Amino acid sequence: MDEFRKHSSPFLLVYFLLIRALFSTATDTISTSARIRDGQTLVSANGEFELGFFNLANSTNRYVGIWYSNITLPTYVWVANRESPLTDRSGVITVTAPGLLAILNRTNGTVWSSAFTPATTPAPNPTARLLDSGNLIVKDADDDTFLWQSFDYPCDTLLAGIRLGWNYVTNVETYISSWKSNDDPAKGEYSSHVDPTGYPQMVLKKGEAVQYRIGPWNGLRWSGAPDTSNDPTYSVSLQLTPDEVRYTEGVVGDSVLSRSRLNPTGQGERSTWNDRTSTWTTYTNMPADNCDSYGLCGPHGSCNVGTSPSCGCLDRFVPRDPKSWGRTDWSDGCVRRIALSCGGDKFLKYSGIKLPDARNTTNNVERRSLAECQVDCSRNCSCVAYAQLNISGDGSGCLFYHGDLIDIRTLASAGQDLYIRMAAAEPGDVASTSSNGGNSGRTRTIVAASITSVVAIIFVCLILVYVYGRRRKSDPSMNQEAVGLFSATNANEAELPFFSLPTVLKATDNFSNKNKLGEGGFGPVYRGELEDGHEIAVKRLSKTSRQGVNELRNEVMLIAKLQHRNLVRTLGFCAEGEEYMLIYEYMPNHSLDLMLFDHEKSSLLDWQKRFNIINGIAKGLLYLHQDSRLRIIHRDLKASNILLDADMIPKISDFGLARSFGGNQTEAQTRRVVGTYGYMSPEYAIDGLFSVKSDVFSFGVLVLEIVSGKRNRGFLLKDHNLNLLGHAWRLYLEDSSRKLLDPCLEEAFDFGQVERAIHVGLLCVQNSPDDRPSMSSVVFMLGNEVALPQAKQPGFFTERDISIDHSSSSSNPTVTHNELTITWTQGR
Ligand SMILES: *[C@@H]1O[C@H](CO)[C@@H](O)[C@H](O)[C@H]1NC(C)=O
Ligand SMILES: *[C@@H]1O[C@H](CO)[C@@H](O)[C@H](O)[C@H]1NC(C)=O
Ligand SMILES: *[C@@H]1O[C@H](CO)[C@@H](O)[C@H](O)[C@H]1NC(C)=O
Ligand SMILES: *[C@@H]1O[C@H](CO)[C@@H](O)[C@H](O)[C@H]1NC(C)=O
Ligand SMILES: *[C@@H]1O[C@H](CO)[C@@H](O)[C@H](O)[C@H]1NC(C)=O
Ligand SMILES: *[C@@H]1O[C@H](CO)[C@@H](O)[C@H](O)[C@H]1NC(C)=O
Ligand SMILES: *[C@@H]1O[C@H](CO)[C@@H](O)[C@H](O)[C@H]1NC(C)=O
Repeated sequence: MDEFRKHSSPFLLVYFLLIRALFSTATDTISTSARIRDGQTLVSANGEFELGFFNLANSTNRYVGIWYSNITLPTYVWVANRESPLTDRSGVITVTAPGLLAILNRTNGTVWSSAFTPATTPAPNPTARLLDSGNLIVKDADDDTFLWQSFDYPCDTLLAGIRLGWNYVTNVETYISSWKSNDDPAKGEYSSHVDPTGYPQMVLKKGEAVQYRIGPWNGLRWSGAPDTSNDPTYSVSLQLTPDEVRYTEGVVGDSVLSRSRLNPTGQGERSTWNDRTSTWTTYTNMPADNCDSYGLCGPHGSCNVGTSPSCGCLDRFVPRDPKSWGRTDWSDGCVRRIALSCGGDKFLKYSGIKLPDARNTTNNVERRSLAECQVDCSRNCSCVAYAQLNISGDGSGCLFYHGDLIDIRTLASAGQDLYIRMAAAEPGDVASTSSNGGNSGRTRTIVAASITSVVAIIFVCLILVYVYGRRRKSDPSMNQEAVGLFSATNANEAELPFFSLPTVLKATDNFSNKNKLGEGGFGPVYRGELEDGHEIAVKRLSKTSRQGVNELRNEVMLIAKLQHRNLVRTLGFCAEGEEYMLIYEYMPNHSLDLMLFDHEKSSLLDWQKRFNIINGIAKGLLYLHQDSRLRIIHRDLKASNILLDADMIPKISDFGLARSFGGNQTEAQTRRVVGTYGYMSPEYAIDGLFSVKSDVFSFGVLVLEIVSGKRNRGFLLKDHNLNLLGHAWRLYLEDSSRKLLDPCLEEAFDFGQVERAIHVGLLCVQNSPDDRPSMSSVVFMLGNEVALPQAKQPGFFTERDISIDHSSSSSNPTVTHNELTITWTQGR
């Protein structure tokens, strides 16, 4: 009955009442006799979507678009006149025969109009309607055929029901294109397409250049697409007919409001709406990591985020140009050790990978087994590899590769098999995926084989550390490096403001003892107050710490470029004479460990605060792993590195050991295993393999500590000799997880949430890095009541670990309250 929603002026109210009195159409429809003016909206029948005029922050341009009607944060899913904004509020939306939807300006000039293809039958009585799906359609009042629909012209948001791909009959493509910026919905640089060349794939392009690719379609999903098996809100499907190729992605059920969007910086994001915080929570990013950069490792290279450097040649392949490969320039890729002769060649199986770019493939969609695919491929010398085309059910069809195999990565789960043609002289019949990819398997074997050997290795390494550390302390090159650290170029590069020494001395009262906050890894930290009253924290490098110089430099270079609500903010640095300092925002509630593990203070952290802290840390870490321009592994996540601001919002700090995993890291640095015992994942402690998954492990330990109020290290119960992880695991198996909860928490709380947090914590500390979820899944699982996978046994969960630790700490006089930072050089 309601014709329009009224927004602003009394005049509009009168107009609205008048219109309502004159006509009786539904709220979601415009007809030829009614126009929509700026200020009025249409609302879909289910109340979910709204169409009307809007403008974006800092701009007076008016646009016509569709947004979610029910949520507080304006979120536009479609914009009609994205390229041709109105400059004032005089616009109107009209529908005219033969079926055109148009936006007119003050002088009735057409600013934008829907396309009308000559093939469409003219509609004498056209109407436009906003459907429950968010689709705006034009049709004749007496005919159900759509003359036009907004779903054929999506902008940056992929709603359920939009069909991406090609109509071969009309030769028209439907694709997603980013906004220019958050202030400007005009078509930006990035676009996302279903590319049917060879066999359908999904490609994300910047201009014409492919940035990211998933696919080919394997009957179930895009090969190498983010694992959605623990994301019950999405289903994906592809229709392939001679007339069209169409991909749809959709929300299952109405329980969560969920959307998929290509943002102006070229990230595909899937997020869900969180009513409590009134924000969108992103839980999948595409591309997700460095290995998603298209063709990073060149032809026949394979990317593995778990190794450093991340590129390796496929097994039985060698770098084409070893020199540039050694300089981590991987673009030339790799070649076969033994060249093909096309006679008596054989095929080797490579498992657990994202299939290479399928633009240069042919296929056979008939029911064919792998053996038949091999026969077909071996008959044609240009066929260099084959794979099962459709892995759904028993598998069917063949995909034949011609030319170079490019854009391969190893996948923790949901990887596929590829059979690559090899010279007959190559031994064996199964290949491991890449020459750098064998490490994680080896780690597992070692862990399983003997914990005793682990103990021995760690012990030997600790001795090495001690000896090495002593030798290095007197290294005269330190001052040289320290000077280099804060040279003008470095400082400019870091874009950090400079604080003069007198300013810092004054603020900290000459580094007076009463202002000392604590002792960090390589020097004391002081509280200070600037003249304008701002409080600061000053990390002062102790004069004997050579390692400190490196770590401080690392921190300066990394953290200056990072900005997130859950990361501590660096305000500047100071370097004068022999003094080197970093200046941070001051955190009145200090670090999490001081509160959490303190008998009296821990009761101040009620459950809701703890859960918020867990969520905050998860988001900060997700930002480091995925969203920041640099992709960063923190490597030393622990309770003492989580600072709390006045509102108990957690901030991750101490980036001295953090590593950016962009392409230009040097191998020497990766050989040094650093971190804190009790938070280190097995594969990192033993093999020095660090990856996002080692941070996930540390995060899991932290979650269990936050829930229980107990330290993982030093945790002892009389009735068994498990550490905190082991204890949590046992309670989980006994289905009594909630007993883990800190006894000082008394009031009633949400046990479902407590158990979910513990469950997620246990998933994060699983022994195998492949089993651990990514931080995006963690954020998703914490925020949504979805079913969680069964957790497997944690890594390092027996009391033996604790006993090594005590023995080692007695040999190291610098240990403070049960925490020891281990540093050693890995002998490789
Ligand atoms: C809109 O919000 C109201 C109140 O929160 C809720 O009852 C209603 O179901 C929501 N409608 C839709 C379509 O989400
Ligand atoms: C709008 O302008 C203000 C001041 O120039 C700026 O701080 C803010 O970030 C801008 N908002 C957006 C969305 O760009
Ligand atoms: C624009 O069109 C409307 C409806 O046809 C008419 O009432 C109005 O006078 C026109 N305005 C101008 C400036 O032509
Ligand atoms: C209205 O739109 C027409 C066509 O785009 C344009 O020529 C005219 O200048 C516009 N008038 C105003 C007042 O913006
Ligand atoms: C893949 O195989 C399944 C089961 O055999 C079949 O239902 C499906 O249509 C196939 N998909 C494609 C794209 O060939
Ligand atoms: C081998 O495959 C290529 C690519 O499909 C094709 O062009 C060529 O004709 C085939 N050769 C033979 C001998 O079948
Ligand atoms: C596809 O493979 C053929 C055969 O090796 C090669 O000649 C051609 O350049 C490749 N095309 C692309 C686009 O990679």
